[in-house]
Amino acid sequence: MTILGMNRRNALIARLNPREAIKGVNQKFETKERLAASGVPVPPTLALIASETEAATFDYARLPDAFAIKPNRGRRGEGVILVDGRVEGGWRKLNGEVLTERMLRAHVTRILAGELSLEGGNSDAALIEPLIRTHPDFARLVPFGLPDIRIICLGDVPLMAMTRLPTVESGGRANLHQGAVGAAIDFRDGAIFRAVLGQDEVFDHPSTNAALIGAVLPFWRETVDAARRCSGALGLGYVGVDLVIDATRGVQVLECNAYPGLEIQNVNAAGLGARIELVQRQQRAKARKTRGTRQAPDSLAGLRPFGSAGTVLRDVGREMAGRVAGALAIPAPLAA
Ligand SMILES: Nc1ncnc2c1ncn2[C@@H]1O[C@H](COP(=O)(O)OP(=O)(O)O)[C@@H](O)[C@H]1O
Ligand SMILES: [Mg+2]
Repeated sequence: MTILGMNRRNALIARLNPREAIKGVNQKFETKERLAASGVPVPPTLALIASETEAATFDYARLPDAFAIKPNRGRRGEGVILVDGRVEGGWRKLNGEVLTERMLRAHVTRILAGELSLEGGNSDAALIEPLIRTHPDFARLVPFGLPDIRIICLGDVPLMAMTRLPTVESGGRANLHQGAVGAAIDFRDGAIFRAVLGQDEVFDHPSTNAALIGAVLPFWRETVDAARRCSGALGLGYVGVDLVIDATRGVQVLECNAYPGLEIQNVNAAGLGARIELVQRQQRAKARKTRGTRQAPDSLAGLRPFGSAGTVLRDVGREMAGRVAGALAIPAPLAA
């Protein structure tokens, strides 16, 4: 198993991701427009407030009961406010706090001033979207926070996938460093075959006790399809695609990363290096072949490039899950 290290990842990105494309994905609205034009499902945009003049005339009363507002060039969740209901004089945030229209206007002003955006900069725009609610078939693994799926793609070839499941510990955040569970997904059917919490392997969700190994993600085929289109849409040769499964809209690409992290390898107990080499070798061989003969395109190429590795890992996972289920016949009651 060849682990992809930081240096090799950076060299790969320098070769495959043009600077303009890297800058492009830092703009959420523009990225969504490009993705949508390539048939990738993204959250609808309710409003893009780009200036103080627009903010002054914006009719906040017409916003729906549940929405998300964020800086167009935000990062790491900074400046994101999630609202899921109306209350007297404003809205109720997901964390229970009240957001008055006055507070919302003040937040937009801060966003426009660039205070919540990356790369310094002294101006930004405020992006408003409907609130994403997790599809019930996914939410049964973890009924709070917004679990997401990360798929690393080399061009349109999906290399490795994981889901990040929030925990009580992570405060509902789908962030591995904050204590979320990372679970490796088999490309063939969307089944979880391994899960980790920090450095430890786990079999059940620590907050809900839901069995993770063998659990199948809904809309898996659509999820992989959406991820595979992002590279071409954004001009990134190597990309980490973050997706969510919305209760009404289904699969949505939330974000694309030109510098995806390496911890997905820990979660999968597999290295990206060997897979990248394998795909590049296949692509070179194919290019040589098509130069000589005309070939029918293989519509399944890339979808299951690592079937056998996945099978082995998954069988191991199932076997271990069986052992754990035997040892824990009566699961502990649900934590709050
Ligand atoms: N429309 C939305 N509905 C619900 N939650 C959202 C929405 N947009 C963003 N979030 C939450 O906020 C987090 C950060 O948003 P994201 O768009 O990924 O921006 P950032 O670049 O700051 O990471 C997401 O991981 C998700 O948990
Ligand atoms: Mg994000």
